[in-house]
Amino acid sequence: MTTLVTGGTGTLGRLVVARLREAHCQVRVLTRRAKEPVDGVEYATGDLDTGEGVADAVSGVGTIVHCAGSARGDEEKARRLVQAAAKAEVRHVVNISVVGAERIPVVSGLDRAMFGYFAAQRAAEQVIADSGLPWTSLRATQFHDLCLLVARQLAKLPVIPVPAGFRFQPVDAAEVAARLADLALGDPLGVVPDLAGPRAYGMAELLRGYLRATHRSRPLLPVRMPGGAARAIRAGANLPTGGDRGHRTWEEFLAERLP
Ligand SMILES: NC(=O)c1ccc[n+]([C@@H]2O[C@H](COP(=O)([O-])OP(=O)(O)OC[C@H]3O[C@@H](n4cnc5c(N)ncnc54)[C@H](OP(=O)(O)O)[C@@H]3O)[C@@H](O)[C@H]2O)c1
Repeated sequence: MTTLVTGGTGTLGRLVVARLREAHCQVRVLTRRAKEPVDGVEYATGDLDTGEGVADAVSGVGTIVHCAGSARGDEEKARRLVQAAAKAEVRHVVNISVVGAERIPVVSGLDRAMFGYFAAQRAAEQVIADSGLPWTSLRATQFHDLCLLVARQLAKLPVIPVPAGFRFQPVDAAEVAARLADLALGDPLGVVPDLAGPRAYGMAELLRGYLRATHRSRPLLPVRMPGGAARAIRAGANLPTGGDRGHRTWEEFLAERLP
């Protein structure tokens, strides 16, 4: 049967599509932009924010790998997806979430404005778990690509504010994609062990690595972030407590990605 990859045009999803194709799966990608089939992958046009096209996208699908996400509305996206998937009698939904989703309290308006992403990922996990469909959920740490995006933006400033005490353990998106593809080829497992990169870095250390790799220097200014979610992150709630480790380091990623 066909495997549907939502977000199959994104950083993670496109790598999942490649892995599934290597495993000779029939793959369909849900995207908001119409696209002709390429390399044996078909594209279904649909939007998880409106529900448009989603029923057609899930038709005839055995497994869904849910990698679609955006800054807002991930809980509603998941709800629209599983409602359509239940009608289509999909056999397995594999979800990607974030390490710390269940441990970072997002209570105040301030928490929500800055760290609402974690609560949205947790809510999406819950929607999938409560859907009645067989499911698997993998929580991963921040991808190297995301860290690079943030570092590039911050490096445009003459002085870089750095949240004091924040640590991250970035992971390679290709390693997360490989794990997701394996999970999609197997049986539903519920929540599986977290996947993180080989080691944790202070945020200043991550930024220095980027500045070094781009032959620049900037003063870093430690800033204490207010709120309960920031307190939890300072306590390491966004870091894995167990689970598995990828191999590729931030330094290796930077060396390969930056000319
Ligand atoms: N980035 C990280 O560090 C990280 C860490 C842990 C977990 N995750 C999770 O991994 C997932 C993928 O992240 P990513 O970095 O690969 O994201 P990305 O590169 O920003 O890609 C997002 C994907 O979501 C799709 N999408 C967005 N809104 C949609 C909508 N309304 N309807 C249908 N598709 C929609 C986009 O497809 P089109 O634009 O083609 O429609 C795109 O393919 C997200 O759920 C994210 O929360 C990310």
